[in-house]
Amino acid sequence: MLKKIGVIGAGYIGGVLVQEISNRRLAREVGVCDPAPIPDPNQPPEQQAVAAKQSVAKGKALDILEGTPIVRRDVKIVASKDYSALEGAELVINTAGVPRKARPDGTYPSREELLAINLKVTLQVAEGIRNNCDDPIIISIANPLDAIVYTLYKKLNPPKNKLMGMAGQLDSSRYCYFVAEAANVSVENVSAMVLGGHGDDMVPIRSSCQIAGIPVTKFLSEEKLKAIEERTRKAGGEVVGLLGFGSAFVSPAWATLEMVEAIIYDKRKIIPVCAYLDGEYGVKGLFVGVPCILGKNGVEQVIELDLTQEEKEAFAKSVASVRKTCDEAEAMLKELT
Ligand code: LAC
Repeated sequence: MLKKIGVIGAGYIGGVLVQEISNRRLAREVGVCDPAPIPDPNQPPEQQAVAAKQSVAKGKALDILEGTPIVRRDVKIVASKDYSALEGAELVINTAGVPRKARPDGTYPSREELLAINLKVTLQVAEGIRNNCDDPIIISIANPLDAIVYTLYKKLNPPKNKLMGMAGQLDSSRYCYFVAEAANVSVENVSAMVLGGHGDDMVPIRSSCQIAGIPVTKFLSEEKLKAIEERTRKAGGEVVGLLGFGSAFVSPAWATLEMVEAIIYDKRKIIPVCAYLDGEYGVKGLFVGVPCILGKNGVEQVIELDLTQEEKEAFAKSVASVRKTCDEAEAMLKELT
């Protein structure tokens, strides 16, 4: 159990995180911050005053606290519209930013299209972490995932083991679920990894996909596996298209908590994580999804897999996309700062 975990953003993912952190007793105190609702200067002053008093973070915190006698959890939850609720957090989870949302015609943007708006939010996030926490472990979830983690790195310059992004665990869970469903076996039997960037060219690693330790190819045809891998790459969008109001939030929160538990219990669990690469996989200076040992220090080690030629090429393509978005982020940062 940690002394304090901070959650930035009290939206859908943030809400599930605070609820689960409390229920799973992961920290004695949770700090959650979110500026919403932000008063709209075009509204009459009375309405602006109402919005200034309201707080999604405080409302969600109070809702959960009022339920703690029922679930019998003694947890302190503090909430704020500014970043002060983060004060003293040893581990911070960043969910801040605009999610993907279906357009009226049913189409939806790519994660990369969120860059311009979420980059501005990330600058405030970096400032909020710097002013309130002393050398915390940071797990970021906001999109475009890899470029936002990169931006936090540029702004905060933390030790590389203490900053990471959550994507691979979610993408791998989706891959595992589709495989379990198609093979008609328990989800508990399937293990698989999705590596690379958290974009539509992410790389499901078929050579690491097993059902009860047996290669997945024993259970599913080439055609079925191809379809599953394609669905995995687009799985985030599939949920966006169905929900209409935003993007997936329960599975991303659970995936993040898998990482949090590995860290706070020093499990040394191997999880695909968006981690800083310093030459591993032939990549330097970028954050990309790779298998890592997660323990008390955060990313304890990057594991280099023996990928097939096809997987190597797909990984390189995904890394090129991450590099492109990070370059765009760099250019935008120059304009913004
Ligand atoms: C998804 C978002 C959270 O993949 O990136 O659902």
